[in-house]
Amino acid sequence: MAHQLVLVLDFGSQYTQLIARRIREQSVYCEIHPCTLAQDPELRAVRALNPIGIVLSGGPSSVYEEGAPHIHEALFDLGIPVLGICYGAQLTAFLLGGKVTKAERREFGRASVKVLRPEGVFKSVGAGEELQVWASHGDHVEALPPGFVQTAESANCAMSGFAHAARKIDCIQFHAEVVHTPRGAELLHNWLFAACGATADWSMASFVDEAIARIRAQVGATGRVICGLSGGVDSSVAAALIHKAIGDRLTCIFVDNGVLRRGEREYVASIFKDHFHVDLRVIDAEDRFLTALAGCTDPEKKRKIIGGEFIAVFEEQAKTIADAKWLAQGTLYPDVIESVSFKGPSAVIKSHHNVGGLPEKMNLVLVEPLRELFKDEVRQLGLELGLPHHMVWRQPFPGPGLAVRCLGPLTKARLDVLRAAEAIIDEEIRAAGLYESIWQSFGVLLPVKSVGVMGDARTYEETLALRAVHSRDGMTADWVHLPYEVLGTISSRVINEVRGINRVVYDITSKPPGTIEWE
Ligand code: XMP
Repeated sequence: MAHQLVLVLDFGSQYTQLIARRIREQSVYCEIHPCTLAQDPELRAVRALNPIGIVLSGGPSSVYEEGAPHIHEALFDLGIPVLGICYGAQLTAFLLGGKVTKAERREFGRASVKVLRPEGVFKSVGAGEELQVWASHGDHVEALPPGFVQTAESANCAMSGFAHAARKIDCIQFHAEVVHTPRGAELLHNWLFAACGATADWSMASFVDEAIARIRAQVGATGRVICGLSGGVDSSVAAALIHKAIGDRLTCIFVDNGVLRRGEREYVASIFKDHFHVDLRVIDAEDRFLTALAGCTDPEKKRKIIGGEFIAVFEEQAKTIADAKWLAQGTLYPDVIESVSFKGPSAVIKSHHNVGGLPEKMNLVLVEPLRELFKDEVRQLGLELGLPHHMVWRQPFPGPGLAVRCLGPLTKARLDVLRAAEAIIDEEIRAAGLYESIWQSFGVLLPVKSVGVMGDARTYEETLALRAVHSRDGMTADWVHLPYEVLGTISSRVINEVRGINRVVYDITSKPPGTIEWE
């Protein structure tokens, strides 16, 4: 590897991914591995990664309990700087001869920590200065291991920080990686650049060269890579990167399933065919999908039908591509982490990231060039590769498309009504400068007719529900407090310009208890 690496060993904290993100934000490459990587006395796998620093994450267990996740204490003798966070701090104390017990006064949420020694992680903080931090622990370090000194304290936790400078070990009982620790990034910066000697050598420009070399090495000199292009950010960036690596040995397949937004097909073709000159096959499968979906109003059945048809169309096309050996996918790091966690794959399975079952069935080998990246890094990479800003900053769009936003009978006529309304929403949200700050903004066509009056005539038409949500990852969401002017403009434009809708309502449900999509 051409760049430095920080290793994060995961003990199951909900914040582990944030540690990696905070480190990468400082242009230092970082990988998360399960703590089981460091359990053999030889620590071969750890040494093979050659990290400049090792972070021990938080975790839900108690270090002294039977079956709690541990590492081999030889890790502390490698001479590599170690930063223990919360459970990681307690485990360090426990393994090196300190005492960890259940705390009388637990610390959950905001806390104030007083820095006693402005060293290590606290290098840039004044002695005696109070830091606002986020803590979440029921155990505490009662006695330090030999040779350690206390570096910070709080009202509820004597050992908020402790360190052994000569052994390059630094421990904090609170979470520097969360935004509720306002100076957390600064503390991590201190550790990375002073203790680990980081040089900030992780950039998207250098990643491009590395990734291209890896793709070329993986796919060798023969065989074609096929890629299902959805128009979303992940598959688009993966395609652009692979194209840069192997040029015309990549064939992209874009399936028009009849439930796309207005102009989507032309948009994708203009970028990939006209601009990048990718071998792009645009498959018009509208009739086929709409025929299969006719009469179906059940949300889960719609998803199944669309998924099944997609695989069938994709497979038919792939068969006609001579020498197809590889299947490209835009899998991202959060999905990878989920499946490598020492607890095993989590219950949240994001199956829509995979074209279900295709690779094995067709004897295709996966090429996943974005596996190491977080979403924001994928966006940076897209820009680096020359994808337009508006493509890279697109809001997410569900695989089953407008089918899950068109409630009631799925007909081409009703889908066209929804498409026209969505185009207006899109235009107005962009015009208001809100598009990129909103996770998703869209319309849902409801099979609910109401009476209206337009001009002197009575109308009796369907309803559009407008939905706009803020979210970080789609798992939870808050409805957006859109300005009244924007709501007003969207409503009047939709009613005036779209035949078939005479009423617009705004959805003010958060997730939970609602979901983002209506189906
Ligand atoms: P929900 O509606 O479950 O959506 O709150 C969470 C996020 O996932 C998207 N979504 C999907 N994406 N296939 C996809 O590729 C699907 O079947 C699907 N259902 C929902 C949704 O747009 C939101 O971003």
